[in-house]
Amino acid sequence: MNRRLLRASTTAIAAVASAACAQTPAPTNFGPYVPTPTVIVTHLLKLADLKPGEYIIDLGSGDGRIVNTAAKQYGARGMGVDIKPELVELATKNAREAGVGDRVKFVAQDLFTLNVNEANVVTLYLLPSTVTKLIPKFLEELKPGTRIVSHDYSLAPWEHERVEEYEFDEKVQISGTTRTVLYRYIVPANVVGTWDAQLPAGVGKVGRFVFTRDPTLRVRGTAEVDGRSVALDNIKVTGTALSFDLPAVAGLRQRTSFTGRIDGGALKGEAVLAAGAAGWAAKLRR
Ligand SMILES: C[S@@+](CC[C@H](N)C(=O)[O-])C[C@H]1O[C@@H](n2cnc3c(N)ncnc32)[C@H](O)[C@@H]1O
Repeated sequence: MNRRLLRASTTAIAAVASAACAQTPAPTNFGPYVPTPTVIVTHLLKLADLKPGEYIIDLGSGDGRIVNTAAKQYGARGMGVDIKPELVELATKNAREAGVGDRVKFVAQDLFTLNVNEANVVTLYLLPSTVTKLIPKFLEELKPGTRIVSHDYSLAPWEHERVEEYEFDEKVQISGTTRTVLYRYIVPANVVGTWDAQLPAGVGKVGRFVFTRDPTLRVRGTAEVDGRSVALDNIKVTGTALSFDLPAVAGLRQRTSFTGRIDGGALKGEAVLAAGAAGWAAKLRR
């Protein structure tokens, strides 16, 4: 390579490298290292409803106690991610000593850049001001039905599915109070959109369902009956399970309770009418 060409390509490489650096945002500080007291780890894993062989990810894993306890006591597999390499080293050593080194791994990485799609359970003990930034990531990457358990800080405005409160002396040193709160969330399948319905004869002339979601992730819905929009009652989405009631208004003869499963662009289930249960289905309009 001649000198001028070498200088030109070195300058080009430096420009690309500095552009890449400029584009990589500094990792968000999700909080200092404060380990969850072991008594709370026990409650947290119980609330997570972890089953043998399931995969747990602790975001900001510290000394690895949550993932390592999950592997040892529940036969889970898992990983932890922490921004501090020395904590990753400590967590890895603790895993080896606990005899679970073959089922867990710890990586030094910004937790925001870790794809969490493999998880059945995600655990968090992160600052309240940052933890909610993870909501879009969770909805994008996690499978419906994945449980998220957050120690002390809620993912508001997302409405928790369950909350447990405790008093632990072990917390006084950490937060100046014995109060401990564990919030559980279950990732919902996305039902938002317009669905063309195929319903059993007794239900009436329902053409389609329309579902929306508010910032709390609560689902609202309507049915289109003879060109009129009727609000659905008691809508519930848990993982891929959906249920709602269609009230007896707008020319509908009876209230109908629907249950079903959301499978991508297809809905399928049972409608319970006075005469008994019958199958129903709906297809998402593209
Ligand atoms: C409160 S500690 C929780 C430790 C552990 N999860 C537990 O409950 O025992 C929060 C951890 O998050 C880590 N952390 C903070 N920001 C992070 C980031 N952007 N990526 C990965 N880890 C981060 C910290 O280094 C710290 O170890």
